[in-house]
Amino acid sequence: MCGIVGAVSERDVQGILLEGLRRLEYRGYDSAGMAVINGESSLRRAREVGKVAALADAISANPLSGHLGIAHTRWATHGEPSQLNAHPHMSGERLAIVHNGIIENYQELRDELKTEGYVFTSQTDTEVVAHLIGKNYQQEGNLYNAVKTSITRLRGAFALAVVHADEPDHLVVCREGSPLVVGVGIGENFIASDQLALLPVTDRFMFLEEGDIADIRKDQIKIHDRDGQAVERTITRFEHGSDSADKGEYRHFMLKEIYEQPRVIKATMEGRITETRVLEQALGTSAANLLENVRHVQIIACGTSYHAGMVARYWIEDLAGVPCSVEVASEFRYRKHVIQPDTLFLCISQSGETADTLAALRQAKKAGFRAALAICNVPGSSLVRESDLVIMTQAGPEIGVASTKAFTTQLTALLIFTLALARHNGLSEQKEAEIVQAIHLLPGQVSDVLALDAEIEAMSKAFMDKNHSLFLGRGSQYPVAMEGALKLKEISYIHAEAYPAGELKHGPLALVDSEMPVVTVAPNNDLVEKLKSNLEEVRARGGELFVFADRAADVKPEEGIHVMQLPSVHEITAPIVYTVPLQLLSYHVAVLKGTDVDQPRNLAKSVTVE
Ligand code: G6P
Repeated sequence: MCGIVGAVSERDVQGILLEGLRRLEYRGYDSAGMAVINGESSLRRAREVGKVAALADAISANPLSGHLGIAHTRWATHGEPSQLNAHPHMSGERLAIVHNGIIENYQELRDELKTEGYVFTSQTDTEVVAHLIGKNYQQEGNLYNAVKTSITRLRGAFALAVVHADEPDHLVVCREGSPLVVGVGIGENFIASDQLALLPVTDRFMFLEEGDIADIRKDQIKIHDRDGQAVERTITRFEHGSDSADKGEYRHFMLKEIYEQPRVIKATMEGRITETRVLEQALGTSAANLLENVRHVQIIACGTSYHAGMVARYWIEDLAGVPCSVEVASEFRYRKHVIQPDTLFLCISQSGETADTLAALRQAKKAGFRAALAICNVPGSSLVRESDLVIMTQAGPEIGVASTKAFTTQLTALLIFTLALARHNGLSEQKEAEIVQAIHLLPGQVSDVLALDAEIEAMSKAFMDKNHSLFLGRGSQYPVAMEGALKLKEISYIHAEAYPAGELKHGPLALVDSEMPVVTVAPNNDLVEKLKSNLEEVRARGGELFVFADRAADVKPEEGIHVMQLPSVHEITAPIVYTVPLQLLSYHVAVLKGTDVDQPRNLAKSVTVE
């Protein structure tokens, strides 16, 4: 969603803010803006519709030099993408604010401020906050107090950064429900909605807690909690190389991230498994205790992470024999649910900031689940902080909006978790060893699939001029088909639908003709023979088939059946390996169609609003 950056420094902050915005652009990108204070003399602002590059052009024509500034990339919620709705918003000529999140009671506050004579130039909820702080500033005469008083009136989720030209040596920031991190520099300090924005200037970060308000100066950071107590927040170092946010030799982040999978899958398993066993303690000191009496697992997630949860359900029921339910967070949070005794609540999220997933977790904690486990990729995120047990995926920053390496590392972490749970439920040592050995083979097998890239690229040409497509899978490959369809629709804008292959005859077969390519994932499991019959049904209707099949599955290429042979893999780890060719297929179709692969239209990387 929206991204915010702020800086206070001896040096000119304009370049720091612009680079920060570029790095956040993947989150939301319909407009961008910046406000910079130059001494006490002036507060200057630039805002442009479109990508950060448009703002960069405007600023290079008309620089905004200064030592204190805030900046924003917007993904519209209240009001269309326009220059007037772009952040920063101002109250008068000297106060500016950027905001992430949603103010739910903005209409009521807007009406109130209007009757007091405040004039609104945008449709945003943010401008309401600007005027509210402006009004309180007049009474308090101090920015920190004005922000503190103002936020008591706000309902909803927000991270705010505020500056005032009368106080040119600091910014005031706060968070309630939206992420905010302080970047600690030497003689300069920064803030952002995501640490990624600040990696060129620091690798030391403090994560603000819910309700924190902070005064950020170049040589001092003061934080108070919700109760007004002065608090220290631990400084953590960013662990991944600071070039993670660069494309390097790759044309797109998505391709780079697809190719990173052997390495990050390995990183995710490292330290958690021996040659033959899962190290339960590596999942957390309380893991053994928490997993001992789990009788049911409730998985909650959104988007790609939801598909990871769907795969995990097959594993959990198969290997651990524990019943497992999976639901998208936005549905779960708004229905009455029956909680079975000793249910483990498992949230899966790349960002750890997805609003619906967090809301579901917060509800669950009140509802009395046994414990909350998070599978997450962002250290310090809200999800990580609010869960009892956390398994971090080690994917590193994922920039492409279409999730790739986050998904396969989620699956890796989920499989390791499943084995730990299964051990408490009678999984034999021999079976555990067999699967752990299969996990060790994953990086190599994924590399083998990446080596098929050129062939998959050639295959992608057949999709270029199509408007619809069908993805089929059975068993744990059904969610893989769903993920393949999601990738294709997200980045190539081709309508793609996934079906369990056995459902084909119950409807989708009516759509099959030569204009409807059918993609199928067919590892060599005990469903492969049934799947072959489904393929015949498609072929008999003139449908063109694209089959990713295990070498040993003996699916023969013939007229209208294109077969891509994949390495033989263990049935349990197959969903991880079979995801990769579908990622590459979507990527190449999107490149051929000339879409914006890393930032597809209308989508955001991190959905921090409902
Ligand atoms: C957005 C992203 C998806 C992601 C989903 C859930 O829709 O574009 O790639 O799968 O959010 O995000 P999360 O961070 O919770 O995994």
